Amino acid sequence: MQRIVVLTGAGISEESGLQTFRGADGLWNHERIEDICTPQGFIRDPLRVDRFYNGLRALLPTVHPNAAHLALAELERAGRERRWDGQVTIVTQNIDDLHERAGSHNVIHMHGELLRLRCTACHATPAWRTDCFPDTACPACGQPALRPDIVWFGEMPYHMDIIARHLAECDLFVAIGTSGVVYPAAGFVDSVAGHADTMLFNLEIPSGPSAFDQAVIGPATRTVPAWTRDLLEA
Ligand code: APR
Repeated sequence: MQRIVVLTGAGISEESGLQTFRGADGLWNHERIEDICTPQGFIRDPLRVDRFYNGLRALLPTVHPNAAHLALAELERAGRERRWDGQVTIVTQNIDDLHERAGSHNVIHMHGELLRLRCTACHATPAWRTDCFPDTACPACGQPALRPDIVWFGEMPYHMDIIARHLAECDLFVAIGTSGVVYPAAGFVDSVAGHADTMLFNLEIPSGPSAFDQAVIGPATRTVPAWTRDLLEA
């Protein structure tokens, strides 16, 4: 049984039409992280933060899973249907729902999800609705304490205990479409180096010595399906 952990970043959704954060036209070229992606920024100007995430939410119905998302979903399905002796767990930094819409079920959103909110009073995570505003009452406790269910800089990512267990048990760690500059995700490759092979699928080799055994450079919609096809035909 092959155990694969796949870490995905904004690059896997780029060919679906969603912007990445860094690079030529990255989201952080147009907004300051401290204004949009920190608890302090939300306290300072919740409407500005809501506008940013509502802008991304408005894109979701217009974009679709691409061949890379679909290839990972097919790999998971093949394992479940015993057509491949393996299991794949996706740990995504992405807040979009493209992995789920591609058919993946084993998906861990370590940075939260665009389509959920979180109540800072009772910690409920209700689904986001178009009529939600910072002063909307939490459907669970009635407090006007809702915020985007996104992990901001300075906050602890979600599900780190489950992620650590999958990393400890995997024999292959794959990173797809991530610049590898944001921790703790950026440190996952080092944490598995002693017991798992590592592969990077990206548009470019990240600066500095690569910690990956193998780097496959090119658009994920071409490189990832070729890799999963080889796995399933082996
Ligand atoms: N195929 C493969 N890789 C791609 C593609 C593509 N079509 N397009 C872009 N990439 C690569 C880029 O070369 C880059 O290395 O994807 C990476 C995207 O990097 P970032 O924009 O930094 O996104 P990510 O690594 O997901 O950012 C991590 O930073 O701002 C925070 O919380 C945010 O989750 C995000 C985290």
